[in-house]
Amino acid sequence: MKIKRAQYHVRGPVPQDVIEAVEFDLAPLESGQVLVEVLAAAINPSDVLTLTGEYGMLPPLPAIGGNEGVGRIQQVGPDVDAARIGQTVLLPVGCGTWSTHVVVPAKGLVVLPGQADPRQLAMLTVNPPTALLMLTEFVTLEPGEWVIQNAANSAVGGYLMQIARLRGWKTVNVVRRDSAVAAVRAEGGDVVLVDNEDLHKQVREATGDARIRLGIDAVGGAATDHLTRCLANGATVVNYGAMSGEPCHISPGSFVFKDITLRGFWLAKWFRTASPEQQASVFGEIVQLIATGKLKARVQATFGIDEIKQALAMAASGARAGKVLIVPTPLG
Ligand SMILES: NC(=O)c1ccc[n+]([C@@H]2O[C@H](COP(=O)([O-])OP(=O)(O)OC[C@H]3O[C@@H](n4cnc5c(N)ncnc54)[C@H](OP(=O)(O)O)[C@@H]3O)[C@@H](O)[C@H]2O)c1
Repeated sequence: MKIKRAQYHVRGPVPQDVIEAVEFDLAPLESGQVLVEVLAAAINPSDVLTLTGEYGMLPPLPAIGGNEGVGRIQQVGPDVDAARIGQTVLLPVGCGTWSTHVVVPAKGLVVLPGQADPRQLAMLTVNPPTALLMLTEFVTLEPGEWVIQNAANSAVGGYLMQIARLRGWKTVNVVRRDSAVAAVRAEGGDVVLVDNEDLHKQVREATGDARIRLGIDAVGGAATDHLTRCLANGATVVNYGAMSGEPCHISPGSFVFKDITLRGFWLAKWFRTASPEQQASVFGEIVQLIATGKLKARVQATFGIDEIKQALAMAASGARAGKVLIVPTPLG
């Protein structure tokens, strides 16, 4: 098998145009290092924005694509216990996961249950904690309360409705197209609606005029305003993405008459500020839920490293039915 990775030397508006799969040589392992065979790695919107240069944090060039993924330890360097060979591990954030292999320090690697589906494990670093933290860090929800979110057919949206259900909260899920409704219902969304000017009326009817105190927005533009109009006085909107490319619009009436608070969430900041104990608690819960099949995301397609351009083109397009993953070697 050839050792390859997806590398880019410049950023540009069409992500698949700037990246390509290239062979590379593996240097002998140094003390404390391990060689990890990549099993699966996700392509997220933040990866696309990193390639176009629009993300909030950009690696120096040249860079290897891919921020999250899962792999299996294949070789250990001097001073690393050989018993670790064969362990399934979470790839460290930002190590260039769109690769057949990565060399990383053994210390600090998170060991994962070997029997779990690597495709699901490959998506656990970014989107599940985002969903869990947005549900728990901004508003203290009581049992049975409603939460409303847009981009509900996204991976974050799917995790959010599954976690909400596990915790006893109900979700109103807003999508932008009819063709996404059935899949969101099947994933566990209590109410699923297509975004429109009258969303607030439909939400009032569907929830029995529930007092909704938390709105989760990944779209921006008019969609933020539609979502905000569904909220109760004093409620909080948490924005965590800008899929529309527009600034969040919220009418002055929502701020003035309803005292709405608009907040932002960025997982990268949480990683910098949360204590090791908090991080262990969040990831402990998520790994357990994914390993037991209680939390999962839909996968639209998997591609090898040589197909990185097709994979990125698909990941950057709309109306997908799930995540696009890089799977360097076909999984059994
Ligand atoms: N702040 C953070 O820490 C953080 C962490 C994780 C993710 N995120 C953000 O969360 C968002 C979702 O990420 P993901 O990985 O879950 O996404 P994903 O699975 O790739 O899904 C993308 C979603 O965006 C929707 N969408 C695309 N263009 C849109 C538009 N112009 N208007 C409305 N909806 C649009 C898609 O709807 P269709 O299916 O109809 O195309 C789909 O629901 C992204 O913005 C990502 O950057 C932020």
